[in-house]
Amino acid sequence: METLITANINEAKRLLEQGQLVAIPTETVYGLAGNALHSSALLSIYATKKRPSFDPLIIHTSSIDKIANYVLSIPELMFALYEAFSPGPITYVVKKNNLIPDMATSGLPTAAFRVPSHPLTLDLLKSLDFPLAAPSANLFGKVSPTTAQHVYNQLHGKIPMILDGGACQVGIESTIVRFDEQGAEVLRLGGLSIDSIKSVAPGIRILHSDGEHIDSPGQLKSHYATQTPLLVGNPEELILKYPSKKIGILSFSKIYKWVPIERQRQLSAKRSTFEAAQNLFAMMQELDHMNLDYIFAEEVPNTQLGPAVNDRLKRASVNH
Ligand code: TXA
Ligand code: MG
Repeated sequence: METLITANINEAKRLLEQGQLVAIPTETVYGLAGNALHSSALLSIYATKKRPSFDPLIIHTSSIDKIANYVLSIPELMFALYEAFSPGPITYVVKKNNLIPDMATSGLPTAAFRVPSHPLTLDLLKSLDFPLAAPSANLFGKVSPTTAQHVYNQLHGKIPMILDGGACQVGIESTIVRFDEQGAEVLRLGGLSIDSIKSVAPGIRILHSDGEHIDSPGQLKSHYATQTPLLVGNPEELILKYPSKKIGILSFSKIYKWVPIERQRQLSAKRSTFEAAQNLFAMMQELDHMNLDYIFAEEVPNTQLGPAVNDRLKRASVNH
């Protein structure tokens, strides 16, 4: 199958209406989208990604009014968060009704909903009369794509089209919030900082996933893997433990004199955790293509998007 890369929304709409899959740009990462109401499209998503069926999907729509069609009720706190942060990098997990097939939620009684802010995808979602299930458009366990080219590298020949919306502005996946009788809890750190969420929901709980049990599915310990082993820590100390000829460094802002400059990437020379998030997956992939023995990655400061960036580095690392 030829994989077309284009910004043509009408073509995307046509393919999705036929039950086919299209990779779509969002402000966080590219998604692999299919009709969320059709089990056959959902099956193709799992098969194309080689994703285990116990890992549920996020359902994308263009408004809270559309979300309301698929849930039992919308909690008050969800309204408040929606007003403040959607469209944007936040996903809401609530009890679903039976219009959403079990396949989308891996049999869970809840479903995850998100209204992404990328203008192309928002227009596409407005034009469709069904929502789109879309996991990140990478093969299972691999680095999430933040450009159309990244998607192409992993999925060409497997899907008919990639809707090209340029490089993702946020760069890491959405923050996931689940609502229950007790209030709300953050299941996955992501592109919306905890501080921002707490400005609207001060009592929100943070689930500290151990990456082993599947209360928050998809939060498996080993994820975002590069081909090259990636180690997280202080590069000056790592080099003593892993003496090796061909090292690459993913630093927050520093440049190290003992490694050739072309094998180094700074996540943010100006020390912004937002810029670090934006660059993270692209720089991991650049280093991964250099045929290195190891990638040494520095943690970034634990402010703003720092914890979410560090979470991804740890999952990508072989020394966690
Ligand atoms: O930014 C994002 O969220 C991107 C873009 C494409 O929107 N999507 C994304 O999807 O990251 P994915 O499939 O890589 O991650 C979906 C995760 C699951 O692994 C799981 O942790 C959580 O969402 N999830 C989905 N449904 C859930 C549910 N009913 N209960 C708890 N967690 C759920
Ligand atoms: Mg993913």
